[in-house]
Amino acid sequence: MIDAVERKIEQYLDELNDGYVSQLYKKIPHGKRLRAKLILKIAGSSLKVLKTAATVEMIHAASLLHDDVIDDANQRRGQISVNASEGNKTAIMLGDILYSKAFFELNSISSEVAKIISNAVVQLSLGELADVKLSEKFHTNRDAYLKMLYQKTASLMEASAESAAILAGKNRQAYRQYGRNLGIAFQMIDDILDITQDTKHLGKPALHDFKEGKVTLPYIYLYEALAQEDRAFLISLHKKSLSEDEANWIKSAMQKHKIIEKSYAEAETLIEEAITSMESLGEQDLSNIAKSMIERKF
Ligand code: FPP
Ligand code: MG
Repeated sequence: MIDAVERKIEQYLDELNDGYVSQLYKKIPHGKRLRAKLILKIAGSSLKVLKTAATVEMIHAASLLHDDVIDDANQRRGQISVNASEGNKTAIMLGDILYSKAFFELNSISSEVAKIISNAVVQLSLGELADVKLSEKFHTNRDAYLKMLYQKTASLMEASAESAAILAGKNRQAYRQYGRNLGIAFQMIDDILDITQDTKHLGKPALHDFKEGKVTLPYIYLYEALAQEDRAFLISLHKKSLSEDEANWIKSAMQKHKIIEKSYAEAETLIEEAITSMESLGEQDLSNIAKSMIERKF
């Protein structure tokens, strides 16, 4: 069924009658299509549902095109990113095209769904801005970090699940909460994998968040666990290209203070809540999606 979403996106782009745009889009690796999968699992595969899934994936793709420009990233999903291969201007405009075409199409699905998704894009953008601000200097503001993470990543998953529930006539609150938990846990695990996995598995450079200025949850917890002089050393590494010794220092300090376990447990709590809620609704597939997220090792 996910193929039908793929075809819908291609159809939307072909309607723009611009061969270059269709061709550019086809070059972007697709990723897991997690949001579309959630929508189809919740709401089936009617035309409205396929359209919703297609528009959400187009918005997600647009946000990543813009994010790679903002982060000055050279790689996305193991391939050269559009900003790196075609330049920032093309990446920004391709994002704008995907985003505005998606919104045009959303209007013909349902005004309620359009409102939910467009509000999520406001949150997404507020989250990205907060991410940029929080990355300027070292911080230990867990609440600000969690709010940013919810806005940047969870808001679109929350909106996807809620929209699908509306289309399927299901309890929107339960599915909204499920999408939110999944989204926050997803980004928490992403932050952990940046520390525990190597470049080959990540499809982007390892231990890169801290160099980019991103003080993710494990770094906040590490700071809290360290003695005064080690805290100063950690801060001195922020935004720096790390030597092998420095990278190993971070990794072994994390190990010593069981930081990965602590961060992982937080994601696990959210996933367990999502699993319990979906099992009580008889949604085994959605419960399995939540389970597989916590087992993610790439
Ligand atoms: C990835 O974060 C970024 C996002 C999930 C959202 C980015 C949102 C925007 C750029 C706003 C989008 C606005 C419109 C109008 C579509 P990351 O850099 O932490 O993750 P990464 O490692 O995958 O790059
Ligand atoms: Mg990024």
